[in-house]
Formats: sequence, C-alpha cells, structure tokens
Amino acid sequence: MKEHFLNLGKQPIANKFLYEYEIENEYFYNLSVCINLDNFLVSLCNFVPPEQMFNNEYVYHSSNSITMKKHFADISKEIKAKINPKRILEIGSNDGVFIKNFDKNQTVCVEPCGNFAKITEEAGYTTYNEFATPTLFSKLKDSYGGFDIIFSANCMCHIQNIYSTFEGICSLLWNDGIFIMEDPSLLHTLQNNAYDQFYDEHAHIFSLIAISNIAKQFDLCVYDAEKLTVHGASNRIYISKTYKNKTERLQKLLQEELNFGITYFETYRKFAKNVEKSRIQLQELLKTLKGEHVVGYGATSKSTTIYNYCGIGPDLLPYIIDTTPDKQGKLSPGTHIPVIKYEENWWKNNKYAFLGAWNYLDEIKNKEGTFINNGGKFITHVPTVQII
Ligand code: TYD
Repeated sequence: MKEHFLNLGKQPIANKFLYEYEIENEYFYNLSVCINLDNFLVSLCNFVPPEQMFNNEYVYHSSNSITMKKHFADISKEIKAKINPKRILEIGSNDGVFIKNFDKNQTVCVEPCGNFAKITEEAGYTTYNEFATPTLFSKLKDSYGGFDIIFSANCMCHIQNIYSTFEGICSLLWNDGIFIMEDPSLLHTLQNNAYDQFYDEHAHIFSLIAISNIAKQFDLCVYDAEKLTVHGASNRIYISKTYKNKTERLQKLLQEELNFGITYFETYRKFAKNVEKSRIQLQELLKTLKGEHVVGYGATSKSTTIYNYCGIGPDLLPYIIDTTPDKQGKLSPGTHIPVIKYEENWWKNNKYAFLGAWNYLDEIKNKEGTFINNGGKFITHVPTVQII
C-alpha cells in the first residue's frame, strides 16, 4: 500500500537548463513523494516520462568532478583485486568514468543518453544506447550469457520499474555473480532534511531495508553495504545471486535505519514538517540578504527542487556560477536564474554563496580559500538553513 507524505509542488525537469526562447514550452509536473508500506520503498508518486529527462541533451558529466573520478578509480581497483571479474556490465555508464578503468574486451555499457553513449562507444567500449528494459536484458542474455559483475552507480534510483530491473539483473548474473549498486541514501536524506534529493530523475530514494526486501522478492541476497560520502551520502550495496551471510557492517547499517524509524510512517510525516520549516527559513534568510551579493554555487539538479519549492528566482539569487560548459549561458529550470561560467575571481563581487552543490562542501571549501579568507560565507539548507 502506497502512502503519500510530501508535496514539493510544481517542478520542471531538474537538469533541463534552458535558453530564454525555450521558456514558453517548459515542461512542469507535480512533485510529490510516497512510501510503499509493504516494502518501504520511497518513490515519486508520479513519474516523469524517461525521454523527458534522459536524452541527447543530458548534461551531467560524471568525469567533470575530481571527487567522482577518484571515487570510481578506487572502487574499480577494489573490484579487480577482490573479484577479478571476466565480464562486467555497467548500467548507466554516463561518460565512462567507471568503465574506463577496465579493459574494453571485458565490458558492456548501457546508457540511454546518446551524447554519453557516443563517448564510450568512440573510446572502443561496447555500448547499448538504450534504457535498461526487459527487452534489453533478454538481448544481453542472448549475446553474453551472463556477467560476473553488474555495476550501477546513481542509476538504479532513476529506473522507474525497479522490479523488472531486478528481475533482469538476476537473469544476467552468473551464480557466483555480484550486483553492486550505489545510490543516494534515504536515511541521510531524512536525517539531514535533504529534500532536494527528490526530483524527477530520482524515481526512488532507497533505504537498505527497501532494497533488501526487493532483492528477496527476486531470490537475490543483500549481503554487504557501505556508506559513501558522494552525492550527499550514498549507500554502496552488494547483492549476490547465491545466499551469503550478512556482513557486520551491513547489520549495523540496517539497525541504524530501524533505529531512525525508516519503517514507521510517522518518520515521514515529521520529515515533511521539517521540509516546510526549511522552506520558510531559507526564504527569510535570502530576503534578509537581498542586495548583499548572494550567488548560487553549483547549478545542480538538486537545487532545482529547492528554487522551485521555495520560490527562489533572480530577485533573491541574481545568478549561479557553475563549471559545466553545457549549463553556462542558460537559465535554471523553472525559476530562470542565469547560470554563468565559474571564474577564478568570482568571489570578488560576492559576499555569500548558496551551496547548490552542498554535496561537494569539502572539495569546494578547499578550492575557495580566497573567498573564505576575504570574509565570504557559504549558505546551506543541509541539515538546517544556516550560514557556514
Ligand atoms: P551534482 O553533484 O551532480 O548534483 P546533481 O546530481 O544534483 O546535479 O552536480 C554538481 C554541479 O555543481 C555541477 O553542475 C558542477 C557544479 N560544481 C561547480 O560548479 N563547482 C564545483 O566546485 C563543484 C564541486 C561542482
């Protein structure tokens, strides 16, 4: 049974930065969130058609971030050392930031965004430029038989029909095969009031409890998990085809979720109240700082949820700086804040920077010593609205 708990109002496609001439045709939908009380899967109540989000104009390049490059190099090294797989499938290969750590002859990529599929294809990696559907899974089964490792980072949460995907993964894993998935953590989202994790692409935000329940449904076994700091906070979850005992660290993480109340509806009701409070506080803070040279730092998808839910437009945040060339010169979705190119001396004209990219706080603090030393301050809404 699904129960609705959060309404974030009318929202655009979070990653669809646009030109002024595109405004009149901008797509909007109602963003609300519910929980399935049978398996505790938290999902958007209404899914956006995938083609609206994942197409040739998709602008998230994993390789743009130093943090993410290192992150994927590290896990690749670990997979090679511990498992030494013969054949790997990656679902959602983006620009190849993970798969490029492996030999071209051992890998298969699946990537629905044509612009990214082209990058891995041109680099010599077999790439299926398709959505991960049951049709694709049976095609992969016919062509390759199976895989020792299936890897998917920040992609399973994008896939609306999570059940048929688990079924497909199960059919593609060899008996000793392992499926490794990484996605934002529901526990962290709730604990830190990071309601901006909810946007069109994130069809689900997973708890370990929900994934364990879904895996069980397809005779798969969640046997290990670890907390990651990327994308705010994520879980890396290890799932096997044959039964394995739960590791100690997984047991601890599951207990942490239970202790927080992941399986109680009241937890979600409380979260929704905190989200409403956060909106009022952020609006008030930005109104107070109006004229004080506040800039947005990082034109993230997440921040689209914040700006639209809180009604923050160019009057409160005159522009956003970002390092991604594809976003520069465009407007933020929905509230149309100009995104401009990140320049080394951006801080000269700014006293405050609202952290759209709060998930990179450490990387940003390291980089922005001059801004900080000149009295510049960051603003965040995570875990509460505050000036850092
Ligand atoms: P990302 O973390 O992928 O968030 P989301 O999944 O919500 O889109 O996006 C990070 C964005 O922030 C990306 O557009 C690049 C930008 N960015 C900067 O401009 N400067 C930085 O130092 C960092 C770390 C990110």
